[in-house]
Amino acid sequence: MRSFAEGQASNNAVDPSGASGLARRDVLALSGAAALAATTPASGGCAAPVSTSAAIEPTSTATIRLIVNGKEASIEVDPRRSLLDVLRETLNLTGTKKGCNQGACGACTILLNGRRIVSCLTLAAMHDGAEIETIEGLEKDGELHPLQGAFIEHDGLQCGFCTPGQIMSAIGCIAESHAGSLDDIRFWMSGNICRCGAYPGIVAAVADAAKRT
Ligand code: FES
Ligand code: FES
Repeated sequence: MRSFAEGQASNNAVDPSGASGLARRDVLALSGAAALAATTPASGGCAAPVSTSAAIEPTSTATIRLIVNGKEASIEVDPRRSLLDVLRETLNLTGTKKGCNQGACGACTILLNGRRIVSCLTLAAMHDGAEIETIEGLEKDGELHPLQGAFIEHDGLQCGFCTPGQIMSAIGCIAESHAGSLDDIRFWMSGNICRCGAYPGIVAAVADAAKRT
């Protein structure tokens, strides 16, 4: 077995071909420099940046009708766009957050026809005629929704990024009768991650709101 020192010596050994007389380390350095030269503009000036993620234009669009927070909207959507992106970028409802964008964090939770879903995992074009509720629709006539009040009362947040998703999910959790105990709440809210770790306050807020609603 070679020692660490022997390994080092072998790495510095002369190229076995003997043609160049260069150490392996030198060859690697030179090839790196050559690769760099090949990608540097010959002029040495500033080249226009090359986009590696140019948006691909849709070949068709779909017109859908959504009832969002009680208001009807008729919108044209790229059939590839998620409901989350359409809410945030087309309807400017940025209260619904994009965390992981892959169904793992719950930050994008909304109510779709009364059921809680993660809006990053579904295409807007699939929901023509759907009724959607987002965090923006909860306050009525200047009055916070009981869950919003309970989150404030119980310190159910720190940075607040996960909070819209937590609250929308909690509405679903209570409506499903899954908020009967603290353990139930922990289990049925487990799809909503809080990176600040505000869980004790969140669970207390949901339990309190469940009693009041
Ligand atoms: S952004 Fe949708 S689950 Fe994380
Ligand atoms: S309050 Fe910061 S992520 Fe939950």
